[in-house]
Amino acid sequence: KILIVDFGSQVTQLIARRVREDGVYCEIVPFNKAEEAFKEMKPKAVILSGGPESVHEAGSPRAPQLIFASGVPVMGICYGQMTMAAQLGGEVEGGHHREFGRADVEVKADSKLFEDVWSSGSKNQVWMSHGDRITRMPPGFSVAGTSPNAPFAIIQDEKRKYYGLMFHPEVVHTPDGAKLIRNFVRKIAGLTGDWTMRAFREEEIAKIRQQVGKGKVICGLSGGVDSAVAAVLIHEAIGDQLTCVFVDHGLLRLDEAKTVVDLFRHHYNIPLVHVDASKQFLGELEGVTDPETKRKTIGRLFIEVFEQEAKKIGGADFLAQGTLYPDVIESVSFTGGPSVTIKSHHNVGGLPERMNMKLVEPLRELFKDEVRKLGRELGLPEIFVGRHPFPGPGLAIRCPGDITRDKLDILRKADAVYIDQIRKHGLYDDIWQAFAVLLPVKTVGVMGDGRTYDYVVGLRAVTSTDGMTADFYQFDMKFLGETATRIINEVKGVNRVVYDVTSKPPGTIEWE
Ligand code: XMP
Repeated sequence: KILIVDFGSQVTQLIARRVREDGVYCEIVPFNKAEEAFKEMKPKAVILSGGPESVHEAGSPRAPQLIFASGVPVMGICYGQMTMAAQLGGEVEGGHHREFGRADVEVKADSKLFEDVWSSGSKNQVWMSHGDRITRMPPGFSVAGTSPNAPFAIIQDEKRKYYGLMFHPEVVHTPDGAKLIRNFVRKIAGLTGDWTMRAFREEEIAKIRQQVGKGKVICGLSGGVDSAVAAVLIHEAIGDQLTCVFVDHGLLRLDEAKTVVDLFRHHYNIPLVHVDASKQFLGELEGVTDPETKRKTIGRLFIEVFEQEAKKIGGADFLAQGTLYPDVIESVSFTGGPSVTIKSHHNVGGLPERMNMKLVEPLRELFKDEVRKLGRELGLPEIFVGRHPFPGPGLAIRCPGDITRDKLDILRKADAVYIDQIRKHGLYDDIWQAFAVLLPVKTVGVMGDGRTYDYVVGLRAVTSTDGMTADFYQFDMKFLGETATRIINEVKGVNRVVYDVTSKPPGTIEWE
């Protein structure tokens, strides 16, 4: 195991990604919780992340001194290098605000860190961070690499296995960075890289059994990958002590309910309560046009319906959720100040307290693509595992203005044609998310010899790594033209199609 101490860099999560890609398990903890975590986790090595502050500012964060006393290998990146140098008796000159830039480092000495990657005397491109700079190295350290502006770009104490880098090896702009991290993990920390999804599956199953005992678990399925994978894993651990509840709010994609029911009842034989609550949801949403009101109404109803169903089956001691690592990570990067609510996300928050249940969250330590891997390991069909994310409030937020069954039908059909086109052209896996939106306006068209007056469908497709930022996807025009023609021909009620070319920011991915 490796512990990553987070000082608030925007890219700390990437360090974790790189380490896990090497098959080694790691966890990120904020610097102020690092001491506790270190004692508990007993990691084989520590990585100190970058961060926005200057080591010189009073009260700027430090790594727990006990890490250096413990004898484990340490790699300090950017701010991590500076605080390591300062804490081990070197001198650091302070600080402008940090900025980044491309630079070449020249390798000045042999190092286990560069083994089979960089040779002595070579120059190599890196993504440098400028802010503080070291003016005197701590005792025991020597220079392993320099850059035109940084005589101490890479410092090391090979005896104690300490390495300090002024650049970011975790970002793609440092082309060999992943290999350097691999050397640290494998050659320096001596970890074997045998952390696999199979191992994770076994470990988690044991943990779930221990946590749950003879208790009953209830799991809300959304139709998405995360809750499905969580449910299948938990079922493998505790069998029919698990009951799944699938609340169909009438805002799902075409055939979605059927897919979920088939998967659970027929593919896996997992007990599933399928609640058709569409009347209730669509009834209460009638005439509601404000996006936030829609979201809040759906969130509230979801809790109410779920609670009723849970009572019917005699309640449960635990609630299972498909919470992922990016949702729980207590990263310093995101505590920068008050943030405004852009959208009220619908999830089942509030349920555990209301129903007095404890949480089972077996995916808390995984990233999205790792959940997909685990899903494959558990035998979920590819078509399910690779699906684009779908928001809890469903089609309600893809139907601006008021929602009616007719509009939802049109939207579902248009969306299905669009996705079919994307799959046929082999583009599905290049896209983070693609979907259709039904605009609340009608426009005039001509079809055959007649006038039409029908709805407009908006098409959206974006690339993204985490949904936080996104670029619109650059289809070729021929694809868009063909898709528009198919939608207008195959879906009654639509006579015009437009493509959304807004990135996030300034747009959001969903339209509401
Ligand atoms: P936005 O529209 O905020 O969406 O750019 C970012 C990502 O989050 C998804 N999304 C949701 N997911 N409950 C969810 O589970 C929600 O209420 C919700 N709203 C948006 C959206 O589909 C995109 O992937």
